[in-house]
Amino acid sequence: MKKKAPLFVCDICGYESTKWFGKCPQCDEWNSAKEIAEKEEHGFDTTKENEFIPLSQYEGNESQRINSQFTHLNRVLGGGVVNGSVVLLGGDPGVGKSTLLTQLCSKFEKSYYISGEESFEQIYLRNKRVSQASEREKKKSGEGINVLNSTFIDVALRKLEKKLNPDDEKSIIVVDSIQTMKSSEVNSLPGGAVQIRECTSNIVSFAKSRNIPVFIVAHITKGGQIAGPKLIEHLVDVVLYFEGNKETDLRILRSVKNRFGPTNEIGVFEMKETGLNEVLDPSERFYDIDSNLSGNCLGIVIEGNTPLVVEVQGLVVKAQFSSPRRLSKGVNPERLALISAVLTKRLNVNVEYSDIYINLLGGLKTADPGIDLPVAMALYSSFTDNYLPSGMACFGEVGLDGKLRSVSFPEKRITELKRLGFSKVVVPSKTKERLSKKVIDGINLFEYNTLHEALLKTIN
Ligand code: TYD
Ligand code: MG
Repeated sequence: MKKKAPLFVCDICGYESTKWFGKCPQCDEWNSAKEIAEKEEHGFDTTKENEFIPLSQYEGNESQRINSQFTHLNRVLGGGVVNGSVVLLGGDPGVGKSTLLTQLCSKFEKSYYISGEESFEQIYLRNKRVSQASEREKKKSGEGINVLNSTFIDVALRKLEKKLNPDDEKSIIVVDSIQTMKSSEVNSLPGGAVQIRECTSNIVSFAKSRNIPVFIVAHITKGGQIAGPKLIEHLVDVVLYFEGNKETDLRILRSVKNRFGPTNEIGVFEMKETGLNEVLDPSERFYDIDSNLSGNCLGIVIEGNTPLVVEVQGLVVKAQFSSPRRLSKGVNPERLALISAVLTKRLNVNVEYSDIYINLLGGLKTADPGIDLPVAMALYSSFTDNYLPSGMACFGEVGLDGKLRSVSFPEKRITELKRLGFSKVVVPSKTKERLSKKVIDGINLFEYNTLHEALLKTIN
C-alpha cells in the first residue's frame, strides 16, 4: 500500500496541513504543529469488498435502536440510541453531563464508564445518589455498570476489547471526558486539538467495529463551542448540547447534528437531589403567570418541535457609565442591539443611552425570531414603567424598518397558548389568514403591522 503523506495538525485550533508550519495560518499560534499518522477513513471496512445493495431489499436498521427509557433523550436522538453510533455530549462544567450519562448507564444491561476526570469514589457516590430514584426498576444500585479510571484511551479500549462479549445486546460505553484523554500514539498534551482528534477517531473506529454505542463528554469553551471545535463534530454521528445555568434547575438537551434523525430537537430535564428528571410538559416551566410587573412579557418560541411559553424580562435603566451596558441572557445580543436600535429610530424611545438587560426565565436560550416582539414589549414596558395586560402573550419578528413579520408555525404557537389558558395574543398582520377557524376560536388575536402600533396599543 502506498505510504500516506504525513499530516500536521495545529494543537490549538485543529488546522490541518500536509506541510509543516512554524506559525499556524489559521490561529497565528507559533510552534503548534504536531505530526500525526493519518489513518484510513473510519467507519468503512476497506478490507471487505462491498457490493451494491438494492434499496428496496434493505430492511432498515430502525430495529437496532435501543430505548434509553428517557422519552426526551430518545426523541432528541431521533428514536433511541443507535448501535455503533458515537454521540458527543457538550456542555458547561457542572451542568449535569456526568449525571445524565450515569443515569443512562443504569438503563442499560451493561455499561462501561471510562472516567479520566473523577475518582472511582466520586462516580460511586453519584451513582448511589441517582439510583435512589430508580429503585422501582428493581435493579441493584450500580448493577451492570463497570467503571474504569484511566486517561489513556488506547489502554481503555484494549481493556474493553477483552471485556466486551459479542452477545452483549444492550451495552453502552461512556468516555468522560474527551479533554482528559490521551493516546500514546501522539505526543502532545491532553485537551489539545491533536489529542482530542486522535482519541475521538480511536473511539469512533472502536464503536463502529464493535457496533456498540459510545457517549463522549466534551466540555465547551467560553465561546460555547466544543473545544477543538469542528474537528471532532465531523467525526461523530450525533452532537448534543446540554444547556442551562446553575441558578435554575432546568436543563435543555439539544441536538445540533444527527446522522440518524432530525436536528435541533430538544428535551427538557430538571436537576433534582436525586439526579435528572424528565419534564414531560416543559411549556409551563419557563414562565411565571403571576409575575405581572413592568418589564415582563410572555412570548412563545418553537424549539425543535416543542412550543415553549417563555417569560422575557427586560430592564431599561439610566446608564451607569458613559458607554451603556447591554446584557442579554438567552437572546442573541445582536438581536437585542437591533431591537434597541429600532425602538430608538422608529418609536423615538430613547433607549440609546440607557443600560439594557434582557433575561429569559429558566435559563432558556433561543434563536427563534419570534422572540423579537416579546423582547421589544418587555423593554418598552420597563422603559415606560407600564405593565402588560394579564393573560397576554405575543410573538413576531421585528424588521429593521420597524415592521412586524410573521414567523413559522403560528398554528402550533396559538394552539399551545390556548391549551395553557391564554386569551389574548399579539401577532404580526396577516397571521389570522394562516390559521384555521378552529384554532382562532376562543382566542383574541390582535394583529399589527408595525412594532410602533403593537407597543402603543398594548401598553399604555
Ligand atoms: P455533573 O453531572 O457532575 O456535571 P458535569 O458532568 O456536567 O460537570 O453535575 C454537577 C452538578 O449537579 C453538581 O453541582 C451537583 C448537581 N447534582 C444534583 O443537583 N443532583 C444530583 O443528583 C447530582 C448527581 C448532581
Ligand atoms: Mg462531569
